[in-house]
Amino acid sequence: MTDKITIDENDTTLVHSPPMRVLISEEQIQTRTHEMGQQIDADFKDENPVLIGLLKGSFIFMADLCRAISIPHHIDFMAIAAYGGGTAPSGAVRLLKDLNVNITGRSVLIVEDIIDSGLTMAYIRRLLLARQPKRLAIATLLDKRSRRQTELPIEYVGFEIGAGFVVGYGLDLAERYRHLPHIAELDVTGTAEESTRSE
Ligand code: IMP
Ligand code: MG
Repeated sequence: MTDKITIDENDTTLVHSPPMRVLISEEQIQTRTHEMGQQIDADFKDENPVLIGLLKGSFIFMADLCRAISIPHHIDFMAIAAYGGGTAPSGAVRLLKDLNVNITGRSVLIVEDIIDSGLTMAYIRRLLLARQPKRLAIATLLDKRSRRQTELPIEYVGFEIGAGFVVGYGLDLAERYRHLPHIAELDVTGTAEESTRSE
């Protein structure tokens, strides 16, 4: 996953903002989130789905997505951490907080900020499928599809982006920049990488 950037806690250059550029504006995010909400309304009508946000990265997207949904639904969160600070090759994660709700027989929508290699989501998906939900779908704001290491069905994708490291709208770099209202791409090389977006 984040093998692109290594954080050195003693690196004083982090005190200053690294160069970054807006990749997806606040307005683009809102427009797309509303489209996704309408799609989810139509697909989960009468199913009272449980939206499951993966903390911490998804908290802002969850807040906006749930307000773009008008059908009745429940919300819950799971907190996970990658072993050793980086995602292990297996994608195995440590469960810091499990769900409060029982999802057996329920329609479930996992809400994620970004899917990179897909290993974390594949792990979570297996974990939740073992609880035998009626149906399990995935919504992610961002999809780094070119970096995928495992097959993963993703029903709702906000934006497909390139391989560059992004922050903002919940996404962090060493816990910073989550509050940015837009998605920004870090310019780590000095030459901003071209990113391709589907919308
Ligand atoms: P995956 O298992 O490789 O798909 O990793 C997914 C996780 O890596 C996400 O939930 C994020 O926490 C993190 N991640 C991957 N790419 C980025 C990025 O560009 N910015 C911030 N976090 C990222
Ligand atoms: Mg995440």
